[in-house]
Amino acid sequence: MKLGANDFINKPWNNEHLLQSVNTLLQLQQKKPRHQTRQQLDNQYDFKNIIGEDPHLLGILETIGRVAATGAAVLITGESGTGKELIAEAIHHNSLRKNKTFVKVNLGGISTSLFESEMFGHTRGAFTDARTDRVGRFEMASKGTIFLDEIGDLDATSQVKLLRVLQDRTYEVLGSSRTKMVDVRVICATNKNLAEMVGKGSFREDLLYRINLITIHLPALRERAKDIPLLVNYLINNLKEIYNRPDLSVSAAAIKWLQQLPLPGNIRQLKNLVERTVLISSKDNLDIEDFTSQLELSPQKKGSQQLPEVGTLTLDEIEVLMIKRSLEFHKNKISKAAASLGLTRSSLYRRLDKYHIPYDETTD
Ligand SMILES: Nc1ncnc2c1ncn2[C@@H]1O[C@H](COP(=O)(O)OP(=O)(O)OP(=O)(O)O)[C@@H](O)[C@H]1O
Ligand SMILES: [Mg+2]
Repeated sequence: MKLGANDFINKPWNNEHLLQSVNTLLQLQQKKPRHQTRQQLDNQYDFKNIIGEDPHLLGILETIGRVAATGAAVLITGESGTGKELIAEAIHHNSLRKNKTFVKVNLGGISTSLFESEMFGHTRGAFTDARTDRVGRFEMASKGTIFLDEIGDLDATSQVKLLRVLQDRTYEVLGSSRTKMVDVRVICATNKNLAEMVGKGSFREDLLYRINLITIHLPALRERAKDIPLLVNYLINNLKEIYNRPDLSVSAAAIKWLQQLPLPGNIRQLKNLVERTVLISSKDNLDIEDFTSQLELSPQKKGSQQLPEVGTLTLDEIEVLMIKRSLEFHKNKISKAAASLGLTRSSLYRRLDKYHIPYDETTD
């Protein structure tokens, strides 16, 4: 695999799986990318809920359109809120399996002890709490697609168990000794860097090779900020219907302002921000100030993502920005702003003087 093989077959092999694998690779070989326009892609595939015309996104849509019809395993990576689940669904809906089930499993939420019973099912009496038979997720997804979300969160024991079913397409229901075959398309997603995890020993290399025949990396929204106006219009159009407010609109200035936000939570954060603003604001034409008051309430992710790029701001400049933001948020109430910054009132006053930040003492 390191030298460039795309797949490998374990002995003893399953004929159907072997044929599927050869077929998939043949199909992938034949179809080369063509750089299609959004219109051309829409004529060929069904991407109706996926908004965007950024060249990077178009390349992704072209790839998923091309690979959808094969049985190839797809790994989708990208920051939180970039649309990984939406893309996984689009692959299923454009595949030959579209009339079968799409089963989503959040692996981050499944404990080691429950992994087998959840994924493979159990028979009555298999363990103390197993009062009835249970159908596992793989069986539910039979002939369809299984979407393994947050695969980077899987512990070592569960990784081994998952590897086996992906490799041999066989598993045993807990409490039963009969081996079952499964025919399923596997799509995985994670916001972690699996290659790095392999390097550190926390993710199995053989499992990575099983799931990443095709890897799709979704760009962060800030890398395709030109799509923000399209997304905002799409969201507003949906909200017009949902809340029965046909005259909703967003000012050009507000759209421009939204375009320069860092939005570490990507499309999900933009969606929440727009929806909250629509709900809170009583007027129909939304402007910058309607959005700013809601932005402060957005749950921001901790960590480096929300910080500006290296070299763009000095520590002093960040301090000034943060102080101004806190003052604005707390409507110039010095004690509250100080508390939110982790400062005493007097040290906040010192900084206000040092940076010549105007403030109105009377409001405190
Ligand atoms: N291109 C897009 N056009 C329209 N809506 C989008 C697009 N991408 C994502 N969304 C919407 O943004 C929200 C987040 O998308 P999704 O749940 O697919 O992200 P995710 O990458 O799985 O996030 P997480 O890592 O947090 O699970 C969803 O409501 C989805 O419908
Ligand atoms: Mg998701």
